[in-house]
Amino acid sequence: MKIARRIENLPPYLFVEIIKKINEKRAKGEEVISFAIGDPDIPTPPHIMERLCQAAQDPANHRYPESDSLPELRQAVSKWYESRFGVSLAPDKEVLPLIGAKDGIAHIPFCFIDPGDIALVPDPGYPVYPVSTMLAGGTPYYMPLTRENKYLPDLNSIPEDIAKKTKFMWLNYPNNPTGAVADLDFFNRVVEYAQKYNISIFHDAPYTEVAFDDYKPVSFMQADGANDVGIEIHSLSKTYNMTGWRIGMAVGNVEIIGALKTLKSNLDSGIPQAIQYAAIEALTGPQDCIQQHNAIYQKRRDLVVDMLNDIGLEVELPKASLYVWAKVPEGYTSIELANDFLEQVGVVVTPGIGYGKNGEGYVRLSLTIPDAGLVKGLSRLAGWRNAKNKFRTKR
Ligand SMILES: Cc1ncc(COP(=O)(O)O)c(C=O)c1O
Repeated sequence: MKIARRIENLPPYLFVEIIKKINEKRAKGEEVISFAIGDPDIPTPPHIMERLCQAAQDPANHRYPESDSLPELRQAVSKWYESRFGVSLAPDKEVLPLIGAKDGIAHIPFCFIDPGDIALVPDPGYPVYPVSTMLAGGTPYYMPLTRENKYLPDLNSIPEDIAKKTKFMWLNYPNNPTGAVADLDFFNRVVEYAQKYNISIFHDAPYTEVAFDDYKPVSFMQADGANDVGIEIHSLSKTYNMTGWRIGMAVGNVEIIGALKTLKSNLDSGIPQAIQYAAIEALTGPQDCIQQHNAIYQKRRDLVVDMLNDIGLEVELPKASLYVWAKVPEGYTSIELANDFLEQVGVVVTPGIGYGKNGEGYVRLSLTIPDAGLVKGLSRLAGWRNAKNKFRTKR
């Protein structure tokens, strides 16, 4: 059998490796506490589940869905963007539901990349941005996100010849893995940059609703001229704890949405309709569940940040997202620290290098772990600190 080079050359998906390690430990009877994956532990709210179950019983929803989804879902997305961000979107042309954000992220490069084209991707960043670019035959150019720059790319440092060969730029705020946020001033500068070099912008925004301390993240689509140059990819996964149902949306520029619609209508057969009805309920029904989830995450965030600082890992308090990005102490790489946590105290964190070269020196902890497990995991980390008591003496 001869597998194509494009698959053979792919690195294993970050979490596949992590899950493998966790399963090996669990198979040996060891209890492992994982802060690795950003997959909400809180169930999908009951009113959304009720609508899903009801819709699943209706034979009309047992058949192939339309590839651009139910008009009612596109209208619900449009209304949600209007009420949440004050952004107007035409439901028939500027909204495209997706099988989760990852569907759109993985496929959109195929609509833009011709041989030799470049895509600007954040480093560290969600690994699907560079991988989908490479699968489509393009070359990623990595934009370093550094602590000094508040994890925003320095647009002026992108070489002119690269910018001229670039088809699109990926951005993601609130950011995975750093937890950083962007403001409208930054997004306005991104639009100007995109206009100057004729670059499309794809803003991946699945965490805009996971925010703390009354902070309200903005949408890229609120920037002046955003709809002329780009789209935003959003998701119900993190907002409504619906990762398992696989539903998200792309919104914005008509041409970009049209290209993605054409590609997807040839690749998949749409989103199961019962899930579309659940999504309509999520977007148009009561929204108080979001506040309730955020209160839980905020409490966890505070516990995690306090403990990490206490054991000698420098951490800033994230304003949004499901992640805490912690600086690895001197003497460790991110993989060494993650391995040490796993081997010594059975705690899993994600090594920053998995998100790109500039993620080295950091580990990521997700807040999607039930409170009891979280407290236990943190006390194990305290035990690790006590056993080593190493960083304290170094400082
Ligand atoms: C930045 C980012 N984009 C996209 C996704 C995928 O979201 P979805 O579940 O909607 O496919 C994730 C999931 O963790 C993510 O962190």
